[in-house]
Amino acid sequence: MHESLPASASPLPVEHDAPLRQHNSFGLPATARRLVRIGSDADVRRVLAHPELGRMPKFVLGGGSNVILTRDMPELVLKVEVPGRRLVAQTDAAWIVEAGAGENWHALVAWTLEQGWPGLENLALIPGTVGAAPVQNIGAYGLELADRFESLDTVDLVTGRTVTLNALQCKFAYRHSLFKGALAGKSVITRVRFRLPRPWRPVLGYLDLERRMAETGNHHPDAATIFEWVCAIRRAKLPDPALIGNVGSFFKNPLVTAEQCRDIITRDPHIVHYPMPDGGYKLAAGWMIDACGWKGKAIGQAGVYDRQALVLVNRGGAIGSEVVTLARAIQESVYGRFGIRLEPEPVIV
Ligand code: EPU
Repeated sequence: MHESLPASASPLPVEHDAPLRQHNSFGLPATARRLVRIGSDADVRRVLAHPELGRMPKFVLGGGSNVILTRDMPELVLKVEVPGRRLVAQTDAAWIVEAGAGENWHALVAWTLEQGWPGLENLALIPGTVGAAPVQNIGAYGLELADRFESLDTVDLVTGRTVTLNALQCKFAYRHSLFKGALAGKSVITRVRFRLPRPWRPVLGYLDLERRMAETGNHHPDAATIFEWVCAIRRAKLPDPALIGNVGSFFKNPLVTAEQCRDIITRDPHIVHYPMPDGGYKLAAGWMIDACGWKGKAIGQAGVYDRQALVLVNRGGAIGSEVVTLARAIQESVYGRFGIRLEPEPVIV
């Protein structure tokens, strides 16, 4: 059922009891009492000015690749579909590229490479939209969004004002930003700009990429080659959300102090750990979950992927509560064995 908002030139359709299964990459069933598709900053302002919708609590949904839906949504769901990609500036030091928040992330990465503006290749095949990328500061194979970020535009959900924020203001950290902290649920990201440094330099420090260099004998891969390698590595390890519902890594890799890390190594000498710049360590959560014997296990239709224990998957027809029950059981067994509390990466609603 559709109705139209008054007061503006083109009507803004409102969907009632909208099914969300197609709008979340885990494929969980849920409906939104009201859903509005946002194509521009002005659309957000029109929603805010609406007598009924303006007053409703709001939930911002991008590609749904970082959300676990456990219930129907009484909130107004704003489905961000802002389009557009363009080069906004080019200097000797960088290409600055802008994309609408509704653009598909992987398509943007592929497009920038085709245009001859490399720099995002390590982030190929990450599911989701451009607007969701800064929320959790997506990262893979030695690169984070924050490393290639210029600025973004966001519309305040109370005032309707558009504000531009730089990297410092976004408070990027490992799989975290202002949009998961103080601004959570309070604004809609509509456009993101990327700084792709010139001259281009490859980021090759990650073990899986070093392995490729050794296997192929190519120690000076260009950006297109790194893009292909990253795609191949991901396809071998991670399920394609178009075929098997998932949200990528389900837990963050926990950060621990050097002392905690030494402690765990004494008990589990093989634990995969990486030194951090602050003297602490990051532990591989996937390794810990695997060590607890979870690979391939399931609760109901929610399962642990058999090629990468950090990824939970929909075996067909899973519901949100099964995913949450499975996640809790994993957290308990990892805590029981390692004394570490795993923190989920997706937002659980
Ligand atoms: N491992 C196991 N068993 C498993 C899974 C992993 O032993 O079941 C071991 C691996 O052999 C490896 C280590 O754990 O030694 C780490 O695994 P991997 O290199 O696959 O990376 P990850 O830590 O599991 C992180 C990101 C991924 C990103 C990759 C590559 C997080 C939470 N995850 O995964 O991001 O693609 O590194 O950079 O930081 C995502 O966030 O959705 C995501 C896929």
